[in-house]
Amino acid sequence: MNEHSTTRTEVAIVGGGPAGLMLSHLLHLAGIDSVVVDHRRVADIAGTHRAGILERDSVRLLVDSGVSDRVLREGHEHEGIDLRFGGLSHRVDFSALVGASCWLYPQTEVFVDLHAARVRDGGDLHYGVRDTAVSGTDGPAPEPTVTFVDAEDRPRRVVADLVVGADGSRSICRALVAGRRQHFREYPFAWFGVLVEAPPSAPELIYARSERGFALISQRTDVVQRMYFQCDPGEDAAAWSDDRIWAELDARLAGHDGFALQHGPVIERTVLPFRSFVQTPMTHGRLALAGDAAHTVPPTGAKGLNLALSDVRLLAEAVERSLRKGDEDALDVYSDQALRRVWRAQHFSYWMTTMLHRVDGASEFDELRQLGELRGIVASPHGAAYLAEGYTGWPNG
Ligand code: PHB
Repeated sequence: MNEHSTTRTEVAIVGGGPAGLMLSHLLHLAGIDSVVVDHRRVADIAGTHRAGILERDSVRLLVDSGVSDRVLREGHEHEGIDLRFGGLSHRVDFSALVGASCWLYPQTEVFVDLHAARVRDGGDLHYGVRDTAVSGTDGPAPEPTVTFVDAEDRPRRVVADLVVGADGSRSICRALVAGRRQHFREYPFAWFGVLVEAPPSAPELIYARSERGFALISQRTDVVQRMYFQCDPGEDAAAWSDDRIWAELDARLAGHDGFALQHGPVIERTVLPFRSFVQTPMTHGRLALAGDAAHTVPPTGAKGLNLALSDVRLLAEAVERSLRKGDEDALDVYSDQALRRVWRAQHFSYWMTTMLHRVDGASEFDELRQLGELRGIVASPHGAAYLAEGYTGWPNG
C-alpha cells in the first residue's frame, strides 16, 4: 500500500510561484536543499497576468542574487508616476523626491526568470501535482512531511526539516498555523483589467481619479498595454465590448490638457478580486508562510509581488539561522520582521486605494476631502515624498 517514493530534503516548499522559487534559489545559494511542489503547470503560471511594477530592492534581489539581469535589459525604469485628477496630470518625481525608481517588468517575466534559474541550477521542482497534503509541522516529531501525486501519477513523499507555505491566496498551509488570527478588509469595488494592442499612451504609469471612478494606465511592451478601471465586484467582463471599454477609459482620463489614450483591440478582459488580508503569525512550529499565503494587498501600488520577495529574503536568512546555527527563535523573529513591513504595505495599498477610488454614496464632503488629499500630495514635496518612498519601496529592515 505504501508505494510513496520518499525524498529527504531540508526545506519543502509548497508553491512554485515567484515567492517559492525565489526562496528555493536563495536557499540554494546558502547551500540548503529544497524541494518545490505546485499543483499548477508552469505554462499556466507563466500565462496568468499579474501586476507589473518592481520596487528598487526587488530588482536588486533578482540581479544581485544571480537570477537574471533581463529586468535591466527588457524592463523599463520609471522615475515617477502621474496622479491625474481634476482633468490634469501631476507628476510625482521619485528620483527627485527620494532618489529611487521602480521598474516596469511583469510578474510573469519574474516567474519565467526564476524558473529558468532553478532549472539551470538543478532545482528539484514538481509542477502539475495533485492531492498535496502537509503534516508534522507542529513540533519536533513526527517529521514535517509533504505528500502529493506528481504529474506522472506517482505518489511521492518529501520529508523535510521545515515546510514553507508559499502557496498563494488559496493556501492550504495557512490553516496549519495554530492560534492564527485573520484580518480582512473588503472593498465595495473591484478592478476591470484589460490587455490591449496599442502603443503606449504615456511614458510612465497614470493613476487617475475621476467622477466615474479610478483608472490606471500601465504598459507591457511597445505594442501591448495593460489598463484597469474600478468596477463593481459582480461585473461580468464578457458583457463589455471593446467600444464600451474604451468609452469608459476615455471618460475617466478626460481632461483639459489634450491627453488622449491610444486605442486598439482588447485582447484580454478580467475582473480582479480586491481585498486586504493578513494572517498572523506567519510561522508555527516547523512551518513558515510567505507571500500571498499570509497576506493579500489590493493592487493599487503593486505591492503584492514585492512583499512576497521581501518575505522570502528575510525567510531565507531565518531558515539558515534555524538549520545551520540551531537558532530556535529564527522563524518567529522572521514572522515579526516580515509583519512589520506587511502592515506598512497594507496601509500604503489601502491609502492609495482610498485616495483614488470612488465609493457609491460618498458625500460631497468625502469627495472634496479626497481631492484635498490629492492636492496635498502633489502640491508639497513632503506629501509627495511619502508616496514616492512607499511606491519605490522602503529600505529593507
Ligand atoms: C500593472 O502594470 O499590472 C500594474 C501596475 C501598477 C499597479 C497595479 C498593476 O498598481
